[in-house]
Amino acid sequence: MLNIAVIGCGYWGPNLIRNFCSIPECKLKLVCDIDKGRLAHMSRLYQGIETTNKIDYVINDAEVDAIAIATPVRYHFEMAKKSLLAGKHTFIEKPMASSVKECEELIELAEKHNLTLMVGHTFIYSSAVRKIKEIINAGDIGEIMYISSRRLNLGLFQKDINVTWDLAPHEISIILYVMGKTPVCVNCQGKAHITEGIEDITNMTIDFDDGGFATVQSSWLDPNKVRQTTFVGSKKMLVYNDLEPFEKIKIYDKRVDTLPHYDTFAEFQYSYHHGDMYSPYIDQVEPLKVECQHFLDCIKSGSKSDSSGIEGLKVVQVLEAASKSLRNEGGKIKINHNLFEFETAQLLFEFETAHNT
Ligand SMILES: NC(=O)c1ccc[n+]([C@@H]2O[C@H](COP(=O)([O-])OP(=O)(O)OC[C@H]3O[C@@H](n4cnc5c(N)ncnc54)[C@H](O)[C@@H]3O)[C@@H](O)[C@H]2O)c1
Repeated sequence: MLNIAVIGCGYWGPNLIRNFCSIPECKLKLVCDIDKGRLAHMSRLYQGIETTNKIDYVINDAEVDAIAIATPVRYHFEMAKKSLLAGKHTFIEKPMASSVKECEELIELAEKHNLTLMVGHTFIYSSAVRKIKEIINAGDIGEIMYISSRRLNLGLFQKDINVTWDLAPHEISIILYVMGKTPVCVNCQGKAHITEGIEDITNMTIDFDDGGFATVQSSWLDPNKVRQTTFVGSKKMLVYNDLEPFEKIKIYDKRVDTLPHYDTFAEFQYSYHHGDMYSPYIDQVEPLKVECQHFLDCIKSGSKSDSSGIEGLKVVQVLEAASKSLRNEGGKIKINHNLFEFETAQLLFEFETAHNT
């Protein structure tokens, strides 16, 4: 039985609390928030649950095995660092931290203390996203030429991070998980309309090492809620609409072919293929429940999570590059992977040496 503590009982934390409470092999021991009203609300919902408004009380509780952090992003690093230093397995909501440097430090700490570090990339635990990965890996769609993703709605406006840092972690984590490819360059443009200096609409493009290309549109300023990602393959096209209750994935047997050989411009022509559309069956399971269970399984088995610190870092690398690009009027920003790969290799070596493996 693992004892879990959750820090942050605002909008998202209660979802973690509800899911951890529903899993038999863990006990939700403690919840923490600086807002006493939220703690009182949690006590009403979960009779007998222990509450505190001091993070140090959580950190110093020797019975707590793991801590889940669901506070605003600016607190993630300090809280996760304290948690790891106290020997607790640590779950951090997305995005993992405010900078690449912070993510690297947390990964290093988790490795050093042999602790599970996991990031809340909830969508990669959804049946729909898992199905998409299966379909793409099976080659049904062909080679993915580009991905176009949109996450739009009215609000919720954040005061400390822009819309890219708030919404795009979902898109980026889905794209990286499904494609398994390395992003190399990011361009991002955006505009702040409501809060000065905090972009509420952004358009990002990501280039991958194999020539792949993705566009990600994020907005807090749209009348309609949109959660849609299109994967355009050389054979077929797949549309993932997370707002559809049942048919979240639709596969269109549509493509454009060009003749492999032509001698004159007059001979050059496109051939448009229009075929059937089908929607595969998807299990109806709450992704967050799968995610919470996966965190516990990783702690027990010691295996790396599907959304480990490294995956959290990859998302923050894209976000950080997007912020630099925004400041650079949308200019292309290269992602520096070498530094991190070098540091990871070093860490692995130190870790293996220390453990004589
Ligand atoms: N995985 C998802 O789908 C998903 C969805 C929404 C939000 N999130 C993430 O969850 C995190 C929290 O977002 P939110 O929308 O719930 O924010 P929120 O502002 O609604 O809630 C944050 C809570 O943290 C508390 N808090 C702040 N500082 C604290 C401190 N020092 N000690 C203890 N408690 C403190 C606040 O009082 C508040 O209750 C963010 O990282 C966000 O990106 C994830």
